[in-house]
Amino acid sequence: MKNFINLINNAISDGTFIKCAFSNPRKNDGFKKITAAYVTINDALYIQFTMFKDNKAFHENIDLENMSSFINSHCVGFKQIQFFTTLHDYHILVNKKGEATIKAKPPTQKLPIAISHNRQKSYILDTPSSAPFLKALDIMDANEKIKPSKYDKYKQINRYLEIVSDVLEALPNDPIRIVDFGCGKSYLTFALYHYLNTILGRKAMVIGLDLKEDVITFCNDLAKKLRYNDLIFQVGDIGHYTTDQQIDMVVSLHACNTATDSALEKAIGWQSKVILAVPCCHHEAYTQIQNDNLEPILKYGLLKERIAALMTDGLRANILEIIGYKVDVIEFIDMVHTPKNILLRAVLKTSASFDTLSYTKYQNLCDTLNLDLSLARLLNLPSDHLI
Ligand SMILES: C[S@@+](CC[C@H](N)C(=O)[O-])C[C@H]1O[C@@H](n2cnc3c(N)ncnc32)[C@H](O)[C@@H]1O
Repeated sequence: MKNFINLINNAISDGTFIKCAFSNPRKNDGFKKITAAYVTINDALYIQFTMFKDNKAFHENIDLENMSSFINSHCVGFKQIQFFTTLHDYHILVNKKGEATIKAKPPTQKLPIAISHNRQKSYILDTPSSAPFLKALDIMDANEKIKPSKYDKYKQINRYLEIVSDVLEALPNDPIRIVDFGCGKSYLTFALYHYLNTILGRKAMVIGLDLKEDVITFCNDLAKKLRYNDLIFQVGDIGHYTTDQQIDMVVSLHACNTATDSALEKAIGWQSKVILAVPCCHHEAYTQIQNDNLEPILKYGLLKERIAALMTDGLRANILEIIGYKVDVIEFIDMVHTPKNILLRAVLKTSASFDTLSYTKYQNLCDTLNLDLSLARLLNLPSDHLI
């Protein structure tokens, strides 16, 4: 999959291909540029290649089955390729040895409507290359249909990957190192690895950490079965996890109570470029929260629980911003699936200093609600961060 021709072939067979352009030829005696886009001729789909030479344009209409052999014979020898799919924009640079550096960004182009009717697929995992992965996770049956009972899970995984696709630009060059804290049975960890390595052709090295030995054994066996060689699962407690590697992205989805705070503390300590966290049960704030003016509402246990959860997540988001991250608070999946659906997506800013004014506001709100939350304590705010 490192090979860009495979990437283009996959996009054609997946129905996600929109167009591409090969430019900057290594030799001067051939075509200066070649573009490729869909064209319909008598209701049949073709790829129209337009080749530019000596201020003239030559067209060839190639059927989809013969597209890759056409590319192999006519489109090699270019240093630069712009390649657009419904899922990503790719910018590919090819060196003298023919090795490609592939950068993926969120998509900016759409398929023309007439073509999208029979080509466009709606999910990131709606690709033939995802079938072995989906079968191994028991989401897809032997006939390559999503099992009705697993459809919600399928949608959730795709939604997660869409959220990841929005932060691709913030990730560094390969290899990307990722830790998934409290990975559990790891549907989403496997999906993240599959997306980055198989679908996007990046090199992502992923570690999943969880307290449960049996779950970790299960995940390591599955990673072996799928030949996901850079996906490793370890037993351990988030709070005690150490590594001497730079971790570029930290994920923590539904880790219990203050385990999310430990995950955020680790990520901030490593200055990870991207953090994705979906907090889960918020016992800490529930046991602390108190405010006489809110008493008429806090007396209802259910509402107190919801308010404690919202305050904790809002305050966590504030801390990330105070420390230097740009934070989005977004819905992970709709409320029908789970009330634990708030995702904090944080991207490290290039230049950031401790935001003292926002910290004062944070502290005022904590005082108002009688909260003394783990994340601020773990980070020893503000003293460890004031320059
Ligand atoms: C609700 S599951 C979520 C699993 C997965 N991330 C997901 O979203 O499907 C929470 C997991 O976090 C793990 N966990 C909780 N506290 C932890 C800690 N301190 N260190 C490591 N794992 C932890 C639990 O063992 C459990 O497997």
